[in-house]
Amino acid sequence: MPTFLFILLLSLSRWTSGWCEDPSSRPLRKFPEGFMFGVSSASYQVEGAWDADDKSPSMWDVSIHKDPCWIANCSTGDVAADSYHLYERDAAMLAELGVDFYRFSISWPRVLPQGPGRVGARSAAGFAYYRRLIAQLKRRGIQPLVTLYHWDLPQYLQDLGGWTNPLIVDWFADYARVVFEELGDDVKYWITINEPWTFCWFGYGRDFFAPRVNSSDVGVYLCAKNVILAHATVYHLYNSEFKEKQGGVVGISNAFTWYEPVTDSKNDSQAVNDILEFEGGLFTNPIYAKCGDFPKIVKERVAKKSAEQGYSKSRLPELTSEEIEFARGAYDFLGVNHYFTILTYRNESADYSTSFFYGGVKAPSYPDDMDVGLALSPEWPTSSVSSFATYHPSGFYKLLTYLRQKYDNPPIIVTENGWPTGPGLEDDDRIKYLRGYLQALQQALEEGSDIRGYTVWSLMDTFEWISRYSTRFGLYEVDFESARRERTPRKSAFVYREVVRARAVDPGYEPPADATMESC
Ligand code: NOJ
Repeated sequence: MPTFLFILLLSLSRWTSGWCEDPSSRPLRKFPEGFMFGVSSASYQVEGAWDADDKSPSMWDVSIHKDPCWIANCSTGDVAADSYHLYERDAAMLAELGVDFYRFSISWPRVLPQGPGRVGARSAAGFAYYRRLIAQLKRRGIQPLVTLYHWDLPQYLQDLGGWTNPLIVDWFADYARVVFEELGDDVKYWITINEPWTFCWFGYGRDFFAPRVNSSDVGVYLCAKNVILAHATVYHLYNSEFKEKQGGVVGISNAFTWYEPVTDSKNDSQAVNDILEFEGGLFTNPIYAKCGDFPKIVKERVAKKSAEQGYSKSRLPELTSEEIEFARGAYDFLGVNHYFTILTYRNESADYSTSFFYGGVKAPSYPDDMDVGLALSPEWPTSSVSSFATYHPSGFYKLLTYLRQKYDNPPIIVTENGWPTGPGLEDDDRIKYLRGYLQALQQALEEGSDIRGYTVWSLMDTFEWISRYSTRFGLYEVDFESARRERTPRKSAFVYREVVRARAVDPGYEPPADATMESC
């Protein structure tokens, strides 16, 4: 065939096969049948009513009240979004979005205000609140997905060492049993513990979060061992005492930042491996890896450095062989909380003074154990309110692929994903983020990842811990200046509603300027 004819045919076939095709005419890529969409919140961040009825203080109440301007503007979660009183409005918002589930957490000191071990002293008012909330959800056909622990430990337990005291395993089991007895007939999805990396490091390793212990060499490791055993104990307890009758599933929600190497060098790719093991792996391996236990590199590195630093034994406590067996496989699903990607490189003498969440910590310490440095890619857009909240959806895809390969494709529920902004209803950057990350998730799904659901953080603006009320994650804006804490849907709420309705991401969907929310 003459060359020019070949080229002509080739261009015609490209024409007809669609390189000039109008993208809006392409069928949308659907999420699989049964895939669940939800939104999330947490007790201390939305409920307020910090001393309502017989509730006792959590460690957040106490840390904040003891040092009132620890958090800028002397902010507190005393009232937050006032969901303790406005839960009917919250349920109406969920119906407006059309979501399949609502992920919220139980405040331990609200339902067991006395303790430890006072399981007979349940708060009738505390449980009545969660019953009312669940009834509102059921009326609307929305599943509750309940987190038992989202960081608001009763102060009476923190007084005894909190998550660094091994007795927390029994205290957590007592508490979980009471909650299963009281609410378990109506709940099919349980998350034991939310983001242990975050509260173990920021709360026990540093003084950024309650209880502000600032033990940067051992805090995170003592906490990690107790978290693993507390989770596994509650998983087994549910299986032996409740599963048959209540038929639910139990998992843990871990924080997974994704990391990419600064260069292609072997050193930098090992740095990626190390930080993934020191962060997510520390809390995931013992439960989800085939052989269980803490990650090998973490055990070896911490033992070696501890010996050099003059400790009598490794700063990372061992899991005994019975404990390894007990924790291994103690899950029905893995909860994945993911927000952003950061660059990392090998740095054995790291100066952490400018290293994001590891800043200002000297050896011996958890950050020093990792031997990595952190950096930001100038190519990835960042949020206007957070320098390390990056937009890099392929990092999410790589994370999901990594979890599939490393942990033998566990069922995953993405229990948090979201984008921080300042106040305001026009949140096109959040829309772009949600679309990009949902498409990345679809890619992983299509390649075989067993992902069962996706959760936006958050339903509405919340008390964002030390970033207080200036950093907003909500699909609904909350007016924290008004006594009634009015909630107003952002543009992203309309876009997410459309995703849930269509069971697909339509990049061309633009909510009408006069769009309103309706629900029954
Ligand atoms: C993780 C936490 O679980 C949640 O409490 C927090 O508000 C979000 N990430 C956003 O920072």
